[in-house]
Amino acid sequence: MSFDSAVIRRDFPLLAKQIDGKPLVYLDSANTSQKPSMVIDAMANFMRESYAPINRSAYTLAANATEQYEGARSAVAKFINANSSLEIVFTKNATEALNLIVHSWGRANLKTGDVVLLTHMEHHANIVPWQMLQQELGIELRWVPLTSDFQLDLTSLTSLLSGVKVFSFTSMSNVLGTINPVEKLCAAAHAAGAIAIVDACQSVPHSPTDVQSWGADFATFSGHKMCGPSGVGVLWGREALLEAMPPFLGGGNMITDVRLDGFTCAELPAKFEAGTPPIAEVVGLGAAVEYLTKIGMANVRQHEIAMSSYVLDLLTNRFGDDITIHGPRNPELRGATFSFAFRGIHPHDISQILDQSNVCVRAGHHCAKPLMKIIGANATTRASFYLYNTTADADTLADALDSASDIF
Ligand code: ALA
Repeated sequence: MSFDSAVIRRDFPLLAKQIDGKPLVYLDSANTSQKPSMVIDAMANFMRESYAPINRSAYTLAANATEQYEGARSAVAKFINANSSLEIVFTKNATEALNLIVHSWGRANLKTGDVVLLTHMEHHANIVPWQMLQQELGIELRWVPLTSDFQLDLTSLTSLLSGVKVFSFTSMSNVLGTINPVEKLCAAAHAAGAIAIVDACQSVPHSPTDVQSWGADFATFSGHKMCGPSGVGVLWGREALLEAMPPFLGGGNMITDVRLDGFTCAELPAKFEAGTPPIAEVVGLGAAVEYLTKIGMANVRQHEIAMSSYVLDLLTNRFGDDITIHGPRNPELRGATFSFAFRGIHPHDISQILDQSNVCVRAGHHCAKPLMKIIGANATTRASFYLYNTTADADTLADALDSASDIF
């Protein structure tokens, strides 16, 4: 289909909202995305017409709800080219998916002195769980540093990977916008005898994903950044690895038998889905996947390359040295997420002034405090674009930045 972000925008009811007669300019999709009617309607219809428990009851309503829930699992598997829907585990969010890997695979496979390699561009969800395991087991954490142009510095990757058991990295930085060479990093991890975990929260919503051609072992992402609802995330793992892992949370649904002296685990993927899952949210995520598939992820990526090119030119031509963009200059090497410093004005002040023009951006540390320290900023302003953003949104951002400098 031909891609027109102004037309796509009409699929998102909230983006039609005006405040004080001015349109909404939503530039916070790296934080969480807006939802198309297709997702809102799928969830509302499901709750109105089909809501029931899944996997537990023999009646028709429950069987239909289970079918919709499992249909969403198959849709997600296809969307990322997983080998089988058994490899898709629904979690609360990507943070829970990463914690699941660390606490299940990590506890079972790592011991004191084992090394885990991370990068300086991780957000907290791919740092803190490992630090918790470090406190518990005494593992060592190593870090891939950054180059001066905000890429991963891979010059010493072979020596950094020496003796490493796990290499866990983001596919795209939520602060810098940098897109990492996932296939190359997975291959390097395997050559060193390590498993490769991809925190794919920022890339799955924005570009085609093929976990098999990545050659990864695990990948995690959240529903709410990809036009789906909050409350549901995804863990993808290679079946053999998931099969061998102990359960993470215990309770109903994840067992085939419970006795006074112990329990027997259910098969995949139920083994990792204890308790009542986010049923309507999974159905909503299925609708989001259908929506994005219809638009075409290659089209979304092309749009964001064009947006990146436009935004970079616009901001640098208009503001010159008054703006510092913390991220790569080449639109092919980045997503459309821009963190910046502007004329020495505090990011929280900028975001409040931008809000007067209905421009929504995130200001702060973006849940990536170690990275902020490395780039020498306590906080940045971050404008993140998605499939529904137009060049007019970028123009409004630039105009609103001008008004911020009039005030300060
Ligand atoms: N959701 C967080 C962000 O805004 C991590 O990037």
